[in-house]
Amino acid sequence: MGEEKRYKRTLVTTALPYANGPVHIGHLAGVYIPADIYVRYLRHKGEDVLMIGGSDEHGVPITIRARKEGVTPQDIVDRYHNIIKKSFEDFGITMDIYSRTTSETHRQVASDFFKTLNEKGEFIQKTTEQYYDEEAKQFLADRYITGKCPHCGNERAYGDQCEACGTSLSALDLIDPKSAISGSKPVLKETTHWYLPLDKHEPWLRKWILEDHKEWRSNVYGQCKSWLDMGLQPRAVSRDLDWGIPVPAKGAEGKVLYVWFDAPIGYISNTKELRPDDWEKWWKDPETRLIHFIGKDNIVFHCIVFPAMLKAHGGYNLPDNVPANEFMNLEGDKISTSRNWAVWLHEYLEDMPGKQDVLRYVLTANAPETKDNDFTWKDYQARNNNELVAILGNFVNRVMVLTHKYFGGKVPEVAAMEAIDNEAIEELRGYKREVDNLLDNFRFRDAQKEAMNMARVGNKYLADTEPWKVAKTDMARVGTILNVSLQITASLATVFEPFLPFTSAKILKQLQKEQMEWGSIGRLDLIEAGHQLGAPELLFEKIEDSVVDAQIAKLEATKAANEKANYTPKPIGETIDFEAFEKLDIRVGLVKECTKVPKADKLLCFKIDDGLGGRTIVSGIAKHYEPEQLVGKRVCFIANLAPRKLKGIESQGMILSAEGADGHLSVVMPDSDVEPGSQVK
Ligand code: 2FM
Ligand code: ZN
Repeated sequence: MGEEKRYKRTLVTTALPYANGPVHIGHLAGVYIPADIYVRYLRHKGEDVLMIGGSDEHGVPITIRARKEGVTPQDIVDRYHNIIKKSFEDFGITMDIYSRTTSETHRQVASDFFKTLNEKGEFIQKTTEQYYDEEAKQFLADRYITGKCPHCGNERAYGDQCEACGTSLSALDLIDPKSAISGSKPVLKETTHWYLPLDKHEPWLRKWILEDHKEWRSNVYGQCKSWLDMGLQPRAVSRDLDWGIPVPAKGAEGKVLYVWFDAPIGYISNTKELRPDDWEKWWKDPETRLIHFIGKDNIVFHCIVFPAMLKAHGGYNLPDNVPANEFMNLEGDKISTSRNWAVWLHEYLEDMPGKQDVLRYVLTANAPETKDNDFTWKDYQARNNNELVAILGNFVNRVMVLTHKYFGGKVPEVAAMEAIDNEAIEELRGYKREVDNLLDNFRFRDAQKEAMNMARVGNKYLADTEPWKVAKTDMARVGTILNVSLQITASLATVFEPFLPFTSAKILKQLQKEQMEWGSIGRLDLIEAGHQLGAPELLFEKIEDSVVDAQIAKLEATKAANEKANYTPKPIGETIDFEAFEKLDIRVGLVKECTKVPKADKLLCFKIDDGLGGRTIVSGIAKHYEPEQLVGKRVCFIANLAPRKLKGIESQGMILSAEGADGHLSVVMPDSDVEPGSQVK
């Protein structure tokens, strides 16, 4: 694959992100960086390629967000479309167009697409019962219904999913359903929708995917196979909702196209908006390749539903490949917009200005190509310091500094090539072939590794030839070594352009050169002798512990806030009778002394005035209080608990404290100065 070109042009689409929040590192890692690397690589090779993107601006989550904020869905999508678009630009994602599904072109294209399918008899209509809110006078999307989860008993499960136990639900499964709009109990009411009969498409889909596309990534192929093996069912393509593209058919008042019907058509609309005159050749000419970059949650829509739509319409190409990624987690937890568990791109750039390429590098180095992967700030720091700074940055800087030192920044002549020089160049060319091969096969993570190996070749070459030592005896030889090193530097600027475009531009600026063609990588005539170089400039800087520690602290604060916001008290325990309660003797005590218990990081030892001669109590609250905070305070304690030994100290009772959502313990204190020994009733 890859060597022989069977196509004239490539249309690359990138999943349209929902415009209901900003974009985060998961978006970049999953879709936009790999797509950008691929497109830059093709462009750099001189191929004809378009990269299509845009915001997905319909769907229920956007209406929910709008309702919560008391604004219109249009306000929401206007806000986030602009933030998302800017984030992509800031990170150097080179979309040829970034449009939106609320555009007029899209409304027209999606509407016509539906009409064509409808007229060709490609839909079936079905009437089913769905929940309806009689107060709000509207049908309820599954997300708009809450109730008790039949699996785990969580009282706040949604009609499509229970977030406590993770089970996918249908609204009909919920116990005691409630409308999230009015709070009333919804009723079942009949409604009619248009369905795409996927079952009818199953035979050709089976052959097309399972036999003709065995080369697709195993995660993509495997997911398709399991969908096909389960048997495809008709899928509704319309919804009862007031936000979306109206269904262009008789009897469809109050209905809109399902967001997953209109969104992929957005790829077509946006191509049309970009290329009004020749968009069709990008979608219909068999010599155009169509590649969808997506995350794993979108596989079924891009490999099964959208191809079925395209086939039903007729005249369109089907995707050639769908290199979907798995998920990127953050510090061990799933990234979540609603829980604010994410590194938001716009915030990253505020905290780490100018470090776009560091993030691009780390996300590609850990790209979740075959399995979910984890982004951690410690790994970010390590990859920056040990790879970008120590390998790539170090090589380029040494070459620049040495050339300035020995030759005033003028590229020296090659006096005579020695075996070691040719070997380094041969090795470089070998890695370049690997990079090409890996990029052709959508293996971006390994491709970047091989590009870094090219910088390693440079470092090893300098270490082996030691021009700083040779300078004492043979300047002509130093000239050859630095000339070869500068040719390697020029190759690095090219090979890293798809991965680290900002860095590539910085290298070229120092070399005082324009971008070179992809095929030039590994050549020895890239910079001519006598050419004046620019000033040396560090490509990367070391990232200190304090910088990543601040990011980790920010995430920890988010976690604590989430725990508080989602706190559900434990269910009330078993009922006890009054006599059982009366057995418990709870008293107020005045803390006279409080000290840390040696060799026990959780324990504090209290000397309590209990009005009856005093007692000692050991309590596990050392993580929550400094001892001096409690001296002189009145606390409540269980006075008739059988004594027990903790770390060799006899504890005569138990101090009462309340456990907050985040696990913090708060000592219970009476709100006036009652006498020590008073009973708590
Ligand atoms: O999962 C998502 O974020 C969707 N908005 C992706 C849509 S991709 C395409 F079909 F537009
Ligand atoms: Zn549940």
